[in-house]
Amino acid sequence: MPLLEIRSLTKVFPLGESIFGGGAKGEVRAVDDVSLDIQAGETLGLVGESGSGKSTLGRLLLRLIEPTSGNIRFDGRDLLAADHGAMRRLRRDMQIIFQDPFGSLDPRMRVEDVISEPLIIHERMSATARRVRVAELLRAVGLDESALRRFPHEFSGGQRQRIGIARALALKPRFIVADEPVSALDVSVGAQIVNLLAQLQREFGLTYLFISHSMPVIRYLATRIAVMYRGKIVEVGPTEQITSTPSHPYTKSLLAATPEMEIA
Ligand SMILES: Nc1ncnc2c1ncn2[C@@H]1O[C@H](COP(=O)(O)OP(=O)(O)OP(=O)(O)O)[C@@H](O)[C@H]1O
Ligand SMILES: [Mg+2]
Repeated sequence: MPLLEIRSLTKVFPLGESIFGGGAKGEVRAVDDVSLDIQAGETLGLVGESGSGKSTLGRLLLRLIEPTSGNIRFDGRDLLAADHGAMRRLRRDMQIIFQDPFGSLDPRMRVEDVISEPLIIHERMSATARRVRVAELLRAVGLDESALRRFPHEFSGGQRQRIGIARALALKPRFIVADEPVSALDVSVGAQIVNLLAQLQREFGLTYLFISHSMPVIRYLATRIAVMYRGKIVEVGPTEQITSTPSHPYTKSLLAATPEMEIA
């Protein structure tokens, strides 16, 4: 059984007043009748041009936004039927890593508080047990305890992404949506984060939906690749197949634009 079963998932956003007058309103089918399985332990790479609906799909899967129609099963359970309490438990299993993990965070929070926050909200833990767990998480992402008392702005982009990853791992999730986690980073720093994500996947048996514009990164990490175009999945298959015999024009152009690059 797949970890996620997505069936006919659709998200329509209303647009504002039509610029042509007459009060007619348009809509954007950001995600349009998407059906897809994500297998436990795999990395599904999601590529597609800007505005094709990748982030919307990722947010729907975590129920950060509600779909217009369709179904999502997580580990066999109907995600959209889950009530508040059930969703609260399910949320622990599903996390997201953003391009800039601190864009939305209080810059006055110390790293220790950033990573502890999900533990305080979701786990009953003594302060001592929590400190031990936070230290473990820091080590898992390659930072040491001197980071605990410092503030996000004191770190480089790559280190900040490590902190964001530690926070995402705090509740031992099974599924992680990584939405362009390395696109804001220099190539070499991004490669280190990509390696870290691969290592964490092996260590913790994680399943990823990995959204990226970078074909070298996708190629390195993804088990399978799904190509999104105007809200639809136009092509999905094993990484080797999609990169050697792409069928959709967007995939072809993406591959043509990709210089050969090594990720060490
Ligand atoms: N909250 C919203 N309200 C209205 N329209 C939205 C909203 N969120 C996204 N959209 C629209 O839905 C479409 C898909 O957006 P989305 O952010 O999912 O694309 P994307 O593939 O992630 O793009 P990018 O590669 O630039 O991140 C776009 O047309 C976008 O303008
Ligand atoms: Mg996006």
